[in-house]
Amino acid sequence: MSALTDLYQEISLCRQCEIAKTRTRVVPGEGAENADILFIGEAPGWHEDQQGRPFVGPSGQFLDSLLSSINLKRPQVYIANVIKCRPPGNRDPLPIEITNCQKWLDRQIAILSPKIIVTLGRYSMAKFFPGKSISKIHGTAQTQNGITYFAMYHPAAALHQGNLRQVIEQDMLKLPPLLTQAKAKMIKEPEPKSEPQPEQLGMF
Ligand code: URA
Repeated sequence: MSALTDLYQEISLCRQCEIAKTRTRVVPGEGAENADILFIGEAPGWHEDQQGRPFVGPSGQFLDSLLSSINLKRPQVYIANVIKCRPPGNRDPLPIEITNCQKWLDRQIAILSPKIIVTLGRYSMAKFFPGKSISKIHGTAQTQNGITYFAMYHPAAALHQGNLRQVIEQDMLKLPPLLTQAKAKMIKEPEPKSEPQPEQLGMF
């Protein structure tokens, strides 16, 4: 079994939050174990809860079209959420749910070791760009410890506010050059062989 399959098994047994009682299925995430880009949304909605797969409802359809605008298909990337169970009535995730679920997302990131993490919406943005506002930083990237973090509006925002659709589409087009840059950096800056670099504690 792959590390991700093992992890899915563990996540499916998690009953730490109240919302585990009302979920139909957990939605751990899906995609390529060697994906360069990890997209992180907020939480499963009704469709995701039914199918156990992330972004399969209306915002998922928009995400698919955004991916195809940069010649990518879902199996070439990895898609996950900040929390893995559906909040009833699609309410916002609670701080305790985000805290409880953090370990799963952290392990996904450790296994995938993506070159780029794309935050979709303010809940995943808050993890990597604390204190920042989505309207200010969408479409911008920060690199920390070899990972490029890129903030985008949540695809569902375009479904509620039509004027954001173009903004999201434009932001998505910035990803291919970012990926080229990230790959070039990795070639120029190989991992140190002997002395490991001290880990930085703050994100940015
Ligand atoms: N919205 C999300 O944030 N995640 C999903 O999986 C679906 C909708």
